[in-house]
Amino acid sequence: PLEQRVDDLLSRLTLEEKAGQLTQFFYLDMEELPEDFDLETLPPEQRAYVGQPKMVEAAIAAGTTGSVLFVKDPAKTNRLQRLAVETTRLGIPLLFGFDVIHGLRTIFPVPIALAATWSPATIETAQAVAAREARAVGIAWTFAPTVDIARDPRWGRIIEGPGEDPVLGAAVAAAQVQGFQGNLDAEHVLAGPKHFAGYGAARGGRDYDDAEVSDSELWNVYLPPFQAAIEAGAGTVMSAYMDLNGVPASANRRLLSDILRDELGFEGFVVSDANAVRSLETQHFAEDLTDAAVRAVSAGLDMEMCMFDPAFSRLPQAGTDGVIGEEVIDDAARRVLTAKFRLGLFENPYVLEDAAASVLGALEHRELARTTAERSIILLKNEPAVLPLRADALKTVAVIGELADSKRDTLGPWVFDHDTDETVTVLEGLRNRLGDRVQVTHAPGAGSPSRRFPSMFDRMDPTVVETSLDNDDDEITRAVELAASADVAIVVVGQRQNQIGENASTATLDLPGRQLEQLQRISRTGTPVVLVVMSGRPLDLRWADAHVPAIVQAWYPGTRGGEAVASVLLGEVSPAGRLPFSWPRHVGQVPIIYSHNRTFQPENQGARYFEEESVPLYPFGHGLSYADFEYSNLRLDRPEIQVGETVTVSVDVHNRSGVDADEVVQLYTHQRYGTASRPIRELKGFQRVPLAAGEIRTVTFGLGPDMLRYWAAATGGFVQDATTIDIYVGGSSTAELTTTLEVETR
Ligand code: IFM
Repeated sequence: PLEQRVDDLLSRLTLEEKAGQLTQFFYLDMEELPEDFDLETLPPEQRAYVGQPKMVEAAIAAGTTGSVLFVKDPAKTNRLQRLAVETTRLGIPLLFGFDVIHGLRTIFPVPIALAATWSPATIETAQAVAAREARAVGIAWTFAPTVDIARDPRWGRIIEGPGEDPVLGAAVAAAQVQGFQGNLDAEHVLAGPKHFAGYGAARGGRDYDDAEVSDSELWNVYLPPFQAAIEAGAGTVMSAYMDLNGVPASANRRLLSDILRDELGFEGFVVSDANAVRSLETQHFAEDLTDAAVRAVSAGLDMEMCMFDPAFSRLPQAGTDGVIGEEVIDDAARRVLTAKFRLGLFENPYVLEDAAASVLGALEHRELARTTAERSIILLKNEPAVLPLRADALKTVAVIGELADSKRDTLGPWVFDHDTDETVTVLEGLRNRLGDRVQVTHAPGAGSPSRRFPSMFDRMDPTVVETSLDNDDDEITRAVELAASADVAIVVVGQRQNQIGENASTATLDLPGRQLEQLQRISRTGTPVVLVVMSGRPLDLRWADAHVPAIVQAWYPGTRGGEAVASVLLGEVSPAGRLPFSWPRHVGQVPIIYSHNRTFQPENQGARYFEEESVPLYPFGHGLSYADFEYSNLRLDRPEIQVGETVTVSVDVHNRSGVDADEVVQLYTHQRYGTASRPIRELKGFQRVPLAAGEIRTVTFGLGPDMLRYWAAATGGFVQDATTIDIYVGGSSTAELTTTLEVETR
């Protein structure tokens, strides 16, 4: 049995070897540098990386590292694996991890776009493809999914998670874990929901800043996606960087032991975020690196991820000195070894290098990337209805914007191994579809200037675009002229992929550069405009919403993203993506969520600011369709239930149009009174249903105690109240069809 194998191996390890199993190194493989290379020509922070791989190889051979991240070449994973298996005393295989976030070679839409599909089945399939490609090159563990609820779009990592809502977030998290892990066979990888916990609550939306989160917000908002990921079997969890309520998450015993293990029942192992154990010292929490290592492991952290000089290399001495009990180190090592056995790494440590080529970017993977992107696209506005475009009525289409033809930006952040030739931009997608029948012209026009601080990842990726055309008057004039002479202008605006993601917070939600000015000039030409937004966060679209007839949120749609955008614009697919966050009108409204409490003077709820509305531009759950849906006959199987019972809610949905389309049917509740004031609306269920033209379908939801309970500060735990509950069902969080449920106690 597994436990016996683990215990037997553990009993043969020295303290150094145990600490080694708890150590994970980045493998920072900078391009081979010529022997006479002048190090001084590299930026100072990159100089240290030269020689880092050699140091890691020595650590592997010495048995002082059990895991490596950032290797994606099968020949390299095999070579490093051979070092571990064939040269170390006990031949324990390495566990290779990587950020396979929305694909490895085949890139799917970014995670927030996956959430926008509101389709767990679609999300699971997408991540299963990512897992298959990862495992083919030797990566057996992904640092995904990001399940951080994000309510402040200034925070760049909103793009990596499921958005603002815990119920949607939980469903997305579970689907991703199932997709990545499956039955953990040779085509699947360990998942690592992250970043535990409350990382999305970073003060001011500034990445890594501390978070103050009340217990009720932690339990009602931030933990449900983690809980769902754990219930779906997630094998690992990554701790967050920041301080939560004054204690760094990576040495936070309450988080990592009391909540994660005791209350959520997590049995896998916890890895730190990169260098987060070492930073316990610089966060002014630990006295030195020994203290950092001891406090992290004692709090419940099992593995340290780092680039250089792991704090955990001090653990053996700390054990010998009695500063930490060996049984604490044993527990952590046991968890890591268990994962390696479960993955079958002892039996099959290597990959077939030749086989990887046929898996990476396989045609069926790319097809799935396209259909997933189609399902993620949101039609935000279509008034007057210029979409879908009628190709037979068009002679010239102008496609404007540098994002319209940027391969790298089409893919989004967290992409390390893409195939540029296979990437289809919006311009290419439209040209492929419209062929020679329609003339498709293009001008990049106003640029989206690069971010101020290129990240390390950008520097390692030669395809990252760093140029900016933002001040080019001639380019803008050319774009306006092209648009003026076309039948329709498709204007692609947004942020570059490196203006969002980790360490890419923003202080403004404005369209970068001169994109708005250009849009205004194009709009004044009188040519109908379709605005296509490429972003991973809401941007300020007030002007566009007031002046442009059609607005499409395309996200960063991935390898076949341009084709997906074309199929939506041309009406081959009816859009059915829905917003996973409330889209603010202005950055000053942030954070703005649909599930706020009613509070004092509810009649003024929509007018809390004196110069700006206090409702979002587009509500949570919003998204239009080319079809027309009518909801009716909302009913309960009984009007009253007892606390602890489940009621069945049904509604009839009628596709009254001549277009086949998906609709996302959403169920919200509002509790009128109880132990605590509850939000005016809370999502409790959703189903994405295909409806043929003219079809009527009855959609049914179960509403049980697990959905009606909540964590209340007054009791310090979960409660379900006897109360009156308003139920709303419809196509967004502003659904109007309503009924009432009485919940009673005997
Ligand atoms: O997995 C990531 C994490 O989300 C942020 N810091 C770096 C890690 C490894 O790349």
